[in-house]
This record gives sequence, structure tokens and C-alpha cells, in this order.
Amino acid sequence: MLAEKYAARIDQIFSKYPTKRSAVMPLLHLAQEEFGYVNEEAIQQVAVLCDMDPTQVQSIAGFYTMYSERPKGKYWLQVCTDLACALRGADKFHKELKEHLGVEEGGTTEDGLFTVEHVMCLAACDKAPMLQCNFHFEENLDMDKMKARIEAWRAEAAAEKSGAKKASAKTKA
Ligand code: FES
Repeated sequence: MLAEKYAARIDQIFSKYPTKRSAVMPLLHLAQEEFGYVNEEAIQQVAVLCDMDPTQVQSIAGFYTMYSERPKGKYWLQVCTDLACALRGADKFHKELKEHLGVEEGGTTEDGLFTVEHVMCLAACDKAPMLQCNFHFEENLDMDKMKARIEAWRAEAAAEKSGAKKASAKTKA
């Protein structure tokens, strides 16, 4: 349960807002961190924490593209294809990125590492093509740069995995 596991963090979030319901968005972020996406369990728990109806929480989670309502890859790539970015080649970049990773819109690679989807304006219109990876911006992209970033993320994920294996082997020894 979020309430027990993150009691101190939740208190800290509530302390910044005048009412419990105004803390719904940071609590949805916390729930997304915990569950990997905003699932039914997350909605129910956030609704209880904020004294809100689950339907209201669901409508907020559904409105904002920063909340995912389905499982996604370790690297969540949100490409802006809104008008200003489209004029700087974002549509072509988005299409080539999906082809490179072998996924459809909103799809996740078989290794579970990358999810690709398009979103509306992320307020970096002059730096297109651009995307947001787990809320971090990658700007002025082309496919060469993107392929290098993808390889770096693959290496990072592999290093984390092998580090976790070593830690687990040490614990067992
Ligand atoms: S239109 Fe893409 S960041 Fe604004």
C-alpha cells in the first residue's frame, strides 16, 4: 500500500498543498513510480489518499500524457509530433524511430526496454525533432543521434541488470 510504504513522502507532498485533493497529481506520479503505470490499484489508492471519487482520479490520469494507463518499457519515449515539431521533421523522425525499434505506435520492444508514442507540444518547439524519455528531454535529434542514445540506454540497462545479479549473488554468498 502506498500509504504505508511512502508515509513520509506522502506527508511531505500533502504539506505543500492546501487540500488533500490538490495533491492528486504528485500522488499519481508516486503511484506510477510504484506500479510502473497508473493501473486500477493506483487509482483506488490515490482516490482514498485524496478523499476523491476514483472516477475523478481516473479522469485526471486519463487527461495528461505524463501518466500511462498501461505497462510501458524501461525507457518511455514520447516524441512530440505537434505542428511546430512536424514542420521540423518530427513525423519522419517518429516513423523512423518506430521502424528502427520494430514497434507500432504505443508499442513496446520485445525486450521490454523501449515504448514509443507520440504526444502533443512539450514546449521545446525550437529544438525539434525532440522527445521526452522518462521526463528527460532529448533535443535536436536525428536518427544517427537517436541510434547512439538507444545503444547507450541498452548498455545502461544491461549494466544495471548485471549489477543487480552481482548484488544478489553477494547476498546469497
Ligand atoms: S510542438 Fe513539439 S515541442 Fe512544441
